[in-house]
Amino acid sequence: MPFLERTDVILARRGFSTNKKIRRFLQRNVFEVNGIRILTGGTRINLFEDSITINGIPSDLRPDIYIMMNKKSGCICSNNRDSNLKTNPPLVFQDIPQELKDEAEKFNLGTLHTVGRLDADTEGLLIITTNGDYSHRITIPEFHCDKTYYLKLKNPCSEEEQKEYIKKCSEGFFIEAEHNYTSAGYKPAFTCKPSVLSFISSDECTLTISEGKFHQVKRMIKTLGNHVSYLKRTVMGNLHLDPALLPGQWRHMTQEEILSVLK
Ligand code: URA
Repeated sequence: MPFLERTDVILARRGFSTNKKIRRFLQRNVFEVNGIRILTGGTRINLFEDSITINGIPSDLRPDIYIMMNKKSGCICSNNRDSNLKTNPPLVFQDIPQELKDEAEKFNLGTLHTVGRLDADTEGLLIITTNGDYSHRITIPEFHCDKTYYLKLKNPCSEEEQKEYIKKCSEGFFIEAEHNYTSAGYKPAFTCKPSVLSFISSDECTLTISEGKFHQVKRMIKTLGNHVSYLKRTVMGNLHLDPALLPGQWRHMTQEEILSVLK
C-alpha cells in the first residue's frame, strides 16, 4: 500500500514556513506529479514512487528516511542534534552509516531521530526517521500506539500470582512517584491504563501497553512486586520487529511498514 502525504505537509517540512507561501509557490510554479499539475496543498502524493517536476525540471524532493532498528543493549536513544557526538554509552545513531546522515542533510530532510525512546538496557524495535510529523503522530498520548514488550522476570510467578498480575494489568493500577537522584530525576506517580499481560512461562511474559510513560514497563512490574531482568520491544502498532535483525542491526522500512505503525 502506498504511503501518501499531503503536498503542503511535505513542503512545510522542507522549509516553507506558512500556508500562504505554499499556496503562492503552487500558483506561481508548475508543480507536476506524474504529469498532472497540482494547485492545492491538500493533494496527496507519494514521494517514494511519484515523478515530481517543478517547471519541467525533476525536483529533488526525496522521501524521508524510515529505519527499523533492533536496538542493542548499552546504547542510548538521546536525540541530541549533533548526530556525530561521541557519548558514553554510545548513541543508537552510531550504528547508522554516515551516508544516510549526509543524505538527510543534502535533501533537506529533517534530522534523524528516534520515535520515542528505549532505556539503555532495553533491546528491540526502534524506529529512526527524519519525518518529525510521523514521529509526533505516533508518540502523542492521544494516538495510543500499542507497544508490545517481551520480558523476563527476576522472580518466577506461581499460577496464583500470574492470575493476579494479569487481572491488575487488565484493570490498570496506581504507580507511586519515584525520586531518583541520577540524571533520570523525579518520576511522577500515575495510574497506568489497562494493558494485556500474557505469560509464556513462570518468568517470561509479553505485555502490551498503549502509553509510553518513562520506565513504564519496569515501574509496572515493580509495583506488582517483581523485577524486570530483560526487556525487549517487539511490536509498535502493527509493525513487528524483523526477526532477521540482530541486536544493533537495522534496515529501511517498506511503505506498508511505515503505514502499519499508524493503524
Ligand atoms: N518501559 C521501560 O521500563 N523501559 C523501556 O525501555 C521501555 C518501556
